[in-house]
Amino acid sequence: MAFSPLFHGLAFFLAALLLASTAADAQLCPNLYKKSCPQLEHIVRDIVKNAVAEETRMAAKLLRLHFHDCFVNGCGASITLDNTTTMDSEKDAPPNLNSIFGFEVIDDIKKQLEAACPGVVSCADILALSALYAVEEVGGPSWSLSFGRKDVLMANKSLASEVLPNQNSSVLELIENFARQNLNARDMTALSGGHTIGAARCLTFRPRIYNTTSIDSCFAATRQETCPRNFGDGDNNLAPLDDKTPGLFDNQYYKNLLAQRGLLPSDQVLFDNGSQDALVTLYATNQSAFFHDFATAMTKMSNIHPSRGTKGEIRTNCRRIN
Ligand code: HEM
Ligand SMILES: *[C@@H]1O[C@H](CO)[C@@H](O)[C@H](O)[C@H]1NC(C)=O
Ligand SMILES: *[C@@H]1O[C@H](CO)[C@@H](O)[C@H](O)[C@H]1NC(C)=O
Ligand SMILES: *[C@@H]1O[C@H](CO)[C@@H](O)[C@H](O)[C@H]1NC(C)=O
Ligand SMILES: *[C@@H]1O[C@H](CO)[C@@H](O)[C@H](O)[C@H]1NC(C)=O
Ligand SMILES: *[C@@H]1O[C@H](CO)[C@@H](O)[C@H](O)[C@H]1NC(C)=O
Ligand SMILES: *[C@@H]1O[C@H](CO)[C@@H](O)[C@H](O)[C@H]1NC(C)=O
Repeated sequence: MAFSPLFHGLAFFLAALLLASTAADAQLCPNLYKKSCPQLEHIVRDIVKNAVAEETRMAAKLLRLHFHDCFVNGCGASITLDNTTTMDSEKDAPPNLNSIFGFEVIDDIKKQLEAACPGVVSCADILALSALYAVEEVGGPSWSLSFGRKDVLMANKSLASEVLPNQNSSVLELIENFARQNLNARDMTALSGGHTIGAARCLTFRPRIYNTTSIDSCFAATRQETCPRNFGDGDNNLAPLDDKTPGLFDNQYYKNLLAQRGLLPSDQVLFDNGSQDALVTLYATNQSAFFHDFATAMTKMSNIHPSRGTKGEIRTNCRRIN
């Protein structure tokens, strides 16, 4: 059977279109927006800077937002999607519910970028760049970042519940969890240093401060003051993940672990006579080593692709598909 040249052309065009809009196959480049959106860095830097100046914890919120985006079918901004009648938002998955923030800052950035260079910069790229600037803003390292992520057309709440790591995990479970994202144990231990900023709810660390032996007793007593023993009582009370320098991105998190002052169970398991003890000791004594490994691991994490065949676009509004 013979096809007309017109049909051939059309078929080729459609195939090319399909390929171009496949998020998983997007090639990332460091200078992608240099010509198409020269204002990108200025706009994002400015908004992140102001937001962190207004609320230091915003740096932590933006870092976690990128992390929780990338672990759920790659960095495709599935996390910023709101509910629709046919799709549940990942914001309501247990690991995110009542603990993931920063969406207004992303909205603000998106709005200004759409005004400056409409339809050019994806929400997934905004999340990645915001996390970088947020960490820099509170004294942390920089890392190499490429652009060209596509925004996925779908959120997956049940996947978010499944793949995001749990604070009750053993060190082996954490290693396995990160391995599924092609991140190794060293990446996992370095990335956990993200907990050098930000806060956690009583709900997440109560079992540790009332029911473990691998904890400094003064630290436990202090935390118990604002996190009551009984479930349902003060669940949302906050404590800093690093109570020594909560607003500073440094290696204090690891120093805390050496002193059995990690807040979450999943923090302290990294220094608990286990496989990550030596690395934690290195990071606690050498901040440059931590910054170097954190930067390497952030680049790897921000390059996690959506699964093959996932379709993508440049969203106009990060909360909904076009
Ligand atoms: C190793 C596995 C990890 C586990 C089990 C874990 C778990 C948690 C939990 C339970 C909280 C508190 C949430 C709440 O209050 O409900 C939290 C907060 C946070 N996590 Fe992680 N996390 C992990 C890895 C990471 C990584 C890789 C990063 C980033 C590189 C990160 C960045 C943060 C930040 C910045 C906060 C504070 C957010 C805020 O202040 O709003 N975490 N994490
Ligand atoms: C999504 O819908 C659910 C149930 O309809 C609701 O409980 C939840 O608050 C909504 N979430 C968001 C982020 O709007
Ligand atoms: C969402 O994730 C679940 C795993 O929790 C998977 O079984 C399902 O196929 C995903 N849904 C879609 C529409 O991809
Ligand atoms: C963690 O463990 C505590 C009991 O020690 C439990 O109440 C809580 O639901 C667990 N959290 C998660 C996310 O599995
Ligand atoms: C403490 O943890 C142990 C083992 O995980 C558990 O069996 C016990 O019920 C817990 N006790 C309290 C008071 O939570
Ligand atoms: C680790 O081992 C040391 C020495 O054997 C012991 O004193 C300490 O209690 C152990 N720590 C934990 C958390 O098991
Ligand atoms: C700390 O780590 C850095 C980066 O890995 C390394 O170049 C430096 O020699 C280390 N410093 C010390 C005192 O070990």
